[in-house]
Amino acid sequence: MNTQFERQVQHHLDTHDTPYLLIDKDKFLANVNSLKQRCSRYHVTLRPHLKTVRSLEAAQHILETTDAPATVSTLAEAEAFAQAGYTNLLYAVGIAPSKLDRIAQLRARGTDISVLLDSIEQAKMVSEYCNTHHCEIPALIEIDCDDVRAGIRSDDPLLLDIATSLNQYQGLLRGVLTHAGGSYQCKNPEALQVMAQQEIDAVVAAANKLKQRGFQCEMISVGSTPTAYFAANFDGVTEVRAGVYHFFDVVMADIGVCSLDDIALSVVTSVIGHNTRKQWLLIDAGWMALSSDSGNDSIPGYGVVIDQHGTIYPNLRVLKLSQEHGIITDINGDPVPFDTFPIGSRMRILPNHACSMAAMHTQYIVESQHSTQSDIWPRIVGW
Ligand SMILES: Cc1ncc(COP(=O)(O)O)c(C=O)c1O
Repeated sequence: MNTQFERQVQHHLDTHDTPYLLIDKDKFLANVNSLKQRCSRYHVTLRPHLKTVRSLEAAQHILETTDAPATVSTLAEAEAFAQAGYTNLLYAVGIAPSKLDRIAQLRARGTDISVLLDSIEQAKMVSEYCNTHHCEIPALIEIDCDDVRAGIRSDDPLLLDIATSLNQYQGLLRGVLTHAGGSYQCKNPEALQVMAQQEIDAVVAAANKLKQRGFQCEMISVGSTPTAYFAANFDGVTEVRAGVYHFFDVVMADIGVCSLDDIALSVVTSVIGHNTRKQWLLIDAGWMALSSDSGNDSIPGYGVVIDQHGTIYPNLRVLKLSQEHGIITDINGDPVPFDTFPIGSRMRILPNHACSMAAMHTQYIVESQHSTQSDIWPRIVGW
């Protein structure tokens, strides 16, 4: 056995019941630091997305101060982080009217949280709510930069109409935001660079249009992990959002944003069966522990195998899942190393998609080679 981390993992491999979610804290901290440094080199603010980690303890390592900017994807996260004292939040999922009461309550308690929208209906609902309740709820207009999810195109005439509706009662327009979800399907550095520039161009064009018409546009926000790492510069934008980089995952390794060795998150699982006829290894981690997220189009299965000594078996993949069973085979049809994985032994599975693997669990076991103790970090669950 080599490193202290491996000894720690071995200890916990033996003490915690499987399956469970493990953070390699040293890799996590290195990942956190790498984007922080990149953004500081490019003089752009980083507004980390906390939707992947969903943990107060993790946030303490990500955000240096309680007024540091952060992004959330649920009001459960917003409320938990606000309760812990964080005051600068962006709720980056389109707003539904039923959620405005909770947003207003957060703002009344001193949390500067903004919302996201992309229609006149939403803009009217927000401004009417503010008028009726004598409050302010700042909003960003979502711009579609790649036809993948929500938002309007930057050249859509709706942009100015939404801004006008928002400002009908009070100055609620805070800026524009886009998210290049299409970057997860990019296959090489050139495509990632093009996507990163496309993301920036879209949101800067929208911001310029608004400013030309006299609207304030204090936030010009871009972000996805791949584009945050591949943008040639961040000229014209005020901030970068990204979240999955805290852990990284097989999708990010597949498209070249990180290596498999950078992945800080895994599920520890026990071997519960050998089927030598089919060359199957069975484990006690099914979709309840791993999620059934198959990543992007080019990734086979539901996660990569790593053994208890940290050796990665890139060709051993969880190829089938049921609720509490995973079936591992070699993607090239080579023999499965049953001797390395006797029944009862433990292994780790690296996530295709860290957000969805983490979402299946209520806590992390956190290990570091600098500590003989492991920590437990609870996860914020629900909406
Ligand atoms: C609006 C928004 N911003 C930022 C992100 C973070 O991107 P990533 O998961 O690539 O780090 C997401 C992820 O879905 C998002 O929806």
